[in-house]
Amino acid sequence: MLASIDTPVLCARGLYKSYRNGARWMDILKGIDLTARCGELTLLMGPSGSGKSTLMAILAGLSRPDRGSVSLLGFPISGLGESDLTDIRLRHCGFIFQSPNLFAALSALDQVRLVLQMTGTQAVDLDARAWQALKDVGLDDRAHLKPAALSGGEKQRVAIARALVKRPTVLFADEPTSALDRYNGDLVTIILRRYAHRHRAMVLCVTHDARLIPHADRIITIDDGRIQADERPHGDDPFSQVSDHAAL
Ligand SMILES: Nc1ncnc2c1ncn2[C@@H]1O[C@H](COP(=O)(O)OP(=O)(O)OP(=O)(O)O)[C@@H](O)[C@H]1O
Ligand SMILES: [Mg+2]
Repeated sequence: MLASIDTPVLCARGLYKSYRNGARWMDILKGIDLTARCGELTLLMGPSGSGKSTLMAILAGLSRPDRGSVSLLGFPISGLGESDLTDIRLRHCGFIFQSPNLFAALSALDQVRLVLQMTGTQAVDLDARAWQALKDVGLDDRAHLKPAALSGGEKQRVAIARALVKRPTVLFADEPTSALDRYNGDLVTIILRRYAHRHRAMVLCVTHDARLIPHADRIITIDDGRIQADERPHGDDPFSQVSDHAAL
């Protein structure tokens, strides 16, 4: 975990990306510069098709820019090979998507345990850590249920427990609340913000969901492949805001 809130976790410079659409090339990212630090929930907002998911995939090393560079946790990820990228993602990054993508045959507890096994956690610690991760998202009483027995919001919270159990320093979320009702959407938002603050993590969240705005430390608006606005609605110190320690 990084020590200082001012440490830049992510530094992207001059990102360009185009996709071919039939005979034409479409310029999706047109020169993005972005620095992000730990301890904040940052929203990436903007119209549909503006390049948000494209940008997040490049920042996470899931896709490569045509031009420009990305440094994540000090790793020059735009220049690394696939096996190094996979290793960095496994050790340091968590991912949450709109759809939870759980394994149908596994209980909530086993979905979370599996991640710990993949990261080499000692067997003796597996259960306690997986239980705690489910407790942190308010699901310890659902631990033995398989996805078919969970609601949509509960499934998404299992996916979040699975992403957070290894305590990633960076968390990438793409539309994590858009399929959820108000109650579950609010819950997920509070969990993301609380994780960023408590664990000094960088949480970068692509969203259309205006419910997240009051919880955000920083809001970056992208339009037509460029950053149009970059605001900190609560000022420069995320720890000066209203409490994020609300019980689930
Ligand atoms: N692999 C691809 N091949 C071709 N075009 C692509 C590819 N990925 C994205 N695009 C195009 O790039 C543009 C931006 O897509 P992107 O998914 O980044 O938008 P977005 O801002 O996340 O939109 P939304 O809010 O609808 O999710 C879109 O026009 C999309 O069709
Ligand atoms: Mg998208």
